[in-house]
Amino acid sequence: MCGIVGYTGGREAAPFLLSGLRALEYRGYDSAGLAVMGEGGLQLAKTSGRIERLAEKTRGGAALPGRSGIGHTRWATHGAPTDVNAHPHVSCGGRFAVVHNGIIENYAALRAELTALGCSFRSETDTEVIAHLLELGYDGDFREALMRTVARLEGSYALGVVCTDFPGEVYAVREASPLILGLGAGENCFASDLAAIAPYTKSAVRLEDGQFARLRPEGVQVYDFAGRPVEPEIFRVDWGPEAAEKGGWEHFMLKEIMEQPRALRSALAPRLRDGLVDFGAELGSALPERLGSVVITACGSAYYAGCVGKLAIERLCRVPVTAELASELRYSDPLIGEDTLVIALSQSGETADTLAAVRECRSRGAKVLAIVNAEGSSLTKLADAVLYTRAGPEIAVASTKGYTTQVAVLTALAAELARRLGRLTEPELRELAAGLYRLPDAVQKAIDLNPGLPELARRYCLGGALYYIGRGTDRAVALEAALKMKEISYRHAEAYAAGELKHGTIALVEEGTSVVALCCRTELLGKMISSIEEVKARGAKVLAVAPAGERRILAAADDVITVPRTGPLLDPVAEIVPLQLLAYYAARELGCDIDKPKNLAKSVTVE
Ligand code: F6R
Repeated sequence: MCGIVGYTGGREAAPFLLSGLRALEYRGYDSAGLAVMGEGGLQLAKTSGRIERLAEKTRGGAALPGRSGIGHTRWATHGAPTDVNAHPHVSCGGRFAVVHNGIIENYAALRAELTALGCSFRSETDTEVIAHLLELGYDGDFREALMRTVARLEGSYALGVVCTDFPGEVYAVREASPLILGLGAGENCFASDLAAIAPYTKSAVRLEDGQFARLRPEGVQVYDFAGRPVEPEIFRVDWGPEAAEKGGWEHFMLKEIMEQPRALRSALAPRLRDGLVDFGAELGSALPERLGSVVITACGSAYYAGCVGKLAIERLCRVPVTAELASELRYSDPLIGEDTLVIALSQSGETADTLAAVRECRSRGAKVLAIVNAEGSSLTKLADAVLYTRAGPEIAVASTKGYTTQVAVLTALAAELARRLGRLTEPELRELAAGLYRLPDAVQKAIDLNPGLPELARRYCLGGALYYIGRGTDRAVALEAALKMKEISYRHAEAYAAGELKHGTIALVEEGTSVVALCCRTELLGKMISSIEEVKARGAKVLAVAPAGERRILAAADDVITVPRTGPLLDPVAEIVPLQLLAYYAARELGCDIDKPKNLAKSVTVE
């Protein structure tokens, strides 16, 4: 989604802003722009398309000399991705320039009002109303104009604003859309995502909703929307520069797939003690006194992780669990009350639908436990307790280590809840913990055992229909595997419960159809072999995913991806990794933009 960067200090602003925007490219965008305050006043450059075009247009920033400014990558919502609709947007008098993430919900009414007052609009965006409101509310005091403006806005917004009367001064505003300030010596900056400013700062502040900040080279002041000063909470940025770099890998996605053993270690190690799962005080006050039911809610891959978690919690704790898409839960009048534990999953912690679903659950009295990767993100503020997945920054749009760490933490949580509810014996708990201890190595093995994946991707994934089938946890993994294939290779792939195929979809299976059959549930192997035979009889070629040494599958399928056995609840983690790689190699073969697939954004901050 859209990205914001702002800077003031001793360096040339434009190259800084371009570098910040490049770091935000992974979020997805379709146009970009800069506004820099220089000796000649406000200078603007905007373009549709890639940041490289903006860099060419501004000669790497040299065409916009000046030491403060704002930059933006836009993902079109109101108006097409054209040069004119790209941000920054400027007020009629040319005094204010603004960049904006989010949506101004009352923009149509504001636009009509401002047009009647004589403002002429150049773009079709909702953002432009902000620039005109600033100009109209201005009487020489930049801060007051800003406060008057935000008082008129409804919706979600993060803003960066500059004013020609205050060169060297940049404002950052947050309401329901993330913004982080980076503090430095003689320079300060801000961005919608830490990735843009992490290489330049060691100290940072997360603006809260309803706050804005004035940044000057010599310091930063934070205020609430009523203008009262706020003491900012500073946190240390401990990203090494390499965390956001590819480190020799061809794509971030491949790097992040290969990082999974390490990510899983850091997700699980703090929750394993003396051979047992032990979350210590991490669950805080999130558990209801009497646990009646669990509702897991999330979007996309995080939802599919929730589908695996549902099976684990139900099996170990024997309480009813539902996994609900966050975008549906809000409107389903859900059966949620004070005895419901709501578990919200999100890599970014900023997904608008997930945040909205959590607010809905809270309003019904539920306790909320968030499982999140991005520290300090909006979801962490809404929850009663937070379990961080500690996967490290995920830059590729397609989630990989984000997903596997979510599944691992959910499974460990299932064991923790079962222990607290007295549902498992100590030997059972020890066996589960032993599986979790072994999981990172098992994932490494799942990678090492399958050097032939590029060839399998060529044979199975480049043409014709593609189905992923499985039962139980395998089915939940099939959903995620098909999503990975769709989003990065643009190949149409469908996931089906294996037993459901013959109730309709098998009509589509024909000579040359590819079927990926997930066969890790040993107790269901016989049934999976029947499904494989059904599709083969209609001409499909079958690539199975099965535990090492599973002879019956070797005989039934055309090819096999081998995964180590990790135990029924942990297999999904080892099983998805070669399927992530299968999607990756298919996308690479097809020449796709793997880290930044078309139409997708890393963090979906609109509903
Ligand atoms: C797919 C993917 C998305 C996200 C979804 C939720 O690879 O990344 O489906 O899983 O947009 O995002 P988060 O986890 O940030 O809430």
